[in-house]
Amino acid sequence: MATKVSRIQLPEESSTPRFLAIGHRGAKGHAPENTLLSFATAINLGAHMIELDVQRLGDSLLVLHDCRLERTTNGKGRLQDQDLLSVRNLDAGRGERIPTLEEVVNLVDRRVPINIEIKSGGGTTELLITLLQRFLAAGWQAEDFLVSSFLHTELARFRKALPQIRIGVLIGGVPTNLAQAAEDLGAWSLHLEADFALPEMLADARRRGLKIFVHTVNQREEIEFWRGAGIDGVFTDYPERAVFLESAA
Ligand code: G3P
Ligand code: MG
Repeated sequence: MATKVSRIQLPEESSTPRFLAIGHRGAKGHAPENTLLSFATAINLGAHMIELDVQRLGDSLLVLHDCRLERTTNGKGRLQDQDLLSVRNLDAGRGERIPTLEEVVNLVDRRVPINIEIKSGGGTTELLITLLQRFLAAGWQAEDFLVSSFLHTELARFRKALPQIRIGVLIGGVPTNLAQAAEDLGAWSLHLEADFALPEMLADARRRGLKIFVHTVNQREEIEFWRGAGIDGVFTDYPERAVFLESAA
């Protein structure tokens, strides 16, 4: 891990676009998802942030969405039943490998923030805390990361250990107490599937001071719709479609 000291810090308001194009699993519409190629592509396409999924295997944090290998690699079975060496030798598409989170953070190298979505329990969060502590000690800033999950118990433990790093709460469905869980967890943002981003949910999130990001939005008209709805950005497999001239100011 190289030490980072040289990047000039801009005031947050001037460096943060109003509407964020968040590259979903990198640039899933252009490259094999959750690979180094996908993240490099997303950044080249102008993504303001990249999103990825992490799971623990032994002492490693792997960037992989599914708990099984078949859909995105030439492997078979559950990730948890494999050994690390075999998994790292799999083809994740176009000759790409399943990367470790550390490899992705080094590749991104603070050019955009990384939204790390915790996909598994069983110690994933504790490994993540240790890894991010190392990056912070090496010069990365808390603003370089946004940690999210549907697993709110994982988020609560993460928040307690590293309160300086923003968290985003993923909620599936529309709970009767709307965005309460996000406020209770001290979240910076609420991440909603488009089907569940009902007006009352959005209004409630706003009242609680939360940023709102909707996933996964790929059609240009849908991206325009959500931009017009006044939310703060979208997760998209095509980040270039969500980059607008005024958002780059
Ligand atoms: O974090 C937003 C989105 O990635 C959540 O859904 O299944 O694509 O990880 P999924
Ligand atoms: Mg995800």
